[in-house]
Amino acid sequence: MLSHLLHLDGIDSVVIETKSRQFVEHRVRAGVLEQGSVDLLNATGVGERMRREGLVHEGLELLFNGRRHRIHFRELTGRAITVYGQQEVVKDLIQARLDAGGEIIFEVEDVRIAGFDSDRPVIRFREQDLERELECDFIAGCDGFHGVSRHAIEAGILNFYERAYPFAWLGILAHAKPASGELIYSNHDRGFALLSMRSSSITRLYLQCKPDEALADWPDHRIWEELQIRLASGAAFRLEEGPIFQKSVTPMRSFVAEPMQYGRLFLAGDAAHIVPPTGAKGMNLAIADVRLLSRALKAFYSHGTSDLLAGYSRSCLRRVWRAQHFSWWMTSMLHRLDGPDSEFDHRRQLAELDNLITSRAAATNFAENYVGLPID
Ligand code: PHB
Repeated sequence: MLSHLLHLDGIDSVVIETKSRQFVEHRVRAGVLEQGSVDLLNATGVGERMRREGLVHEGLELLFNGRRHRIHFRELTGRAITVYGQQEVVKDLIQARLDAGGEIIFEVEDVRIAGFDSDRPVIRFREQDLERELECDFIAGCDGFHGVSRHAIEAGILNFYERAYPFAWLGILAHAKPASGELIYSNHDRGFALLSMRSSSITRLYLQCKPDEALADWPDHRIWEELQIRLASGAAFRLEEGPIFQKSVTPMRSFVAEPMQYGRLFLAGDAAHIVPPTGAKGMNLAIADVRLLSRALKAFYSHGTSDLLAGYSRSCLRRVWRAQHFSWWMTSMLHRLDGPDSEFDHRRQLAELDNLITSRAAATNFAENYVGLPID
């Protein structure tokens, strides 16, 4: 996305990727785009397939005490979300870059970055057994939580803020018609569950599980049985079942590195921050980061001004911490919390959910956060 935005501003970039094109285009991730992300993809000419295949949702449902309650985004905020898999966004962006003659080097190895505390940062890597060196003006560390860029900054410069959760999500993709037109977030005695989708014939479903859950303990019939229980709402409701073609466990973590910049190295997306998936914010935060970074780089190249670059971290972190709070809040409202306080916590959660469906002010606050703040 950053490379695409820079290209539109006439700024050259090279994307260096350790995985193959095939891998990144098929890696399953979340699938909720905030309105601001959708608007940016459309405004920059990469929204055509998303408009055709994406599913616009004007609300979602909260399920607790066996009953479903709708939160109406459009009515409360005038905005909506679009369900479109992250890997589909990745496919569209790769295609756009290649069509425009952009350079993406896939399957590189041993990436090392240096010199970003000077005016000449350099990236060294191996491409098909050839040692390469790329000199540049700036390095954007868009390489995820496990990438090399954050780790290349010497100890003591960044501060880390972190929170671990004692549970994870077991996620599946199945060839089955989604049982609802909108997402259903369920708070159930047996643990959280989420119904999502990718199309009219592919359902995406999640179950709260243990962080070290072994997939071998979850044969398909057990997954369906548990989902049927946790997503049940009235006698008429039944999940449509079908062949499961993808299964994985997603850990839950909140993490922020501050500042998101050191010298001429700028961190963006998961390289700088991780949210638990409950608020569906991960991809949206990454898109918002690079929107700010591209604008700051444009100001630098066209007017020689560095103030937007200097303010990059501060501008991003405001949105990041808003999303951190929202993701933590949704997570703690919806998951089964074990331990000595679990009964208290469960009743506190039900009171919170009840407040959301009875107070328009509370519902509006929830909806505003879910559909996302405007990017600008
Ligand atoms: C998804 O469809 O993968 C999804 C939806 C909502 C979330 C997380 C993941 O909160």
